[in-house]
Amino acid sequence: MSDRRGRLVALEGIDGCGKSTQARLLASRLDAVATFEPGATRLGAGLRALLLEPGRGAVSDRAEALLMAADRAQHVTEVIRPALDAGRWVVTDRYAASTLAYQGYGRGLDLTELDALVGWATGGLRPDLTVLLDLPADVAAARRAAAGADRQEADRMEAEGAGFLGRVAEGFRTLAAAGGEAWLVVDATAPVAEVAGTIGRAADRLARDGPP
Ligand code: TYD
Repeated sequence: MSDRRGRLVALEGIDGCGKSTQARLLASRLDAVATFEPGATRLGAGLRALLLEPGRGAVSDRAEALLMAADRAQHVTEVIRPALDAGRWVVTDRYAASTLAYQGYGRGLDLTELDALVGWATGGLRPDLTVLLDLPADVAAARRAAAGADRQEADRMEAEGAGFLGRVAEGFRTLAAAGGEAWLVVDATAPVAEVAGTIGRAADRLARDGPP
């Protein structure tokens, strides 16, 4: 991996943490390929609709995990791998840790089994850096409520409520604590420019020194 010029940076966090804004800012700073999960490929767009649109019918926990994994498999094959192989940096708004946090800590599926599923789906491709935009679940809920007037109906995950989101937020923190130097935890209550600066400096270090 160390002879690769392009790097993979994943932004993670609960709904409402500001990760999409930060992913956009980071990608433009790095001139990176900006992408996201779920739904960045044609197959993925169909899976995203099945997974998130209200009124699509029941999705069991295991089916949800498998569909997220299928989306990621296609994303890696079609978007991420080709970009890295061409020497580009890739910034993705969500990646493997979202499955562990939402389907593992949130839904209660077995973490070891999910880890194996994610590893298989991605062919073992791990981010060089995963950034957690850490935000208390109640702050995220308040931000979403404040933005409510401009938003459409809550999607299936957003409709899960505070207990679920709290478990997911805590799950992300646990993953970050176990992930060592491949993770950066940023306080997402800080102003946008400050968060962007912190993430940008970590990316600069990665460019200079390579992955930990
Ligand atoms: P996203 O488009 O990032 O939504 P938002 O911008 O509201 O954060 O993600 C859609 C939802 O899918 C989000 O609630 C998290 C969920 N998700 C999982 O549950 N598991 C996964 O593996 C991924 C990638 C996303």
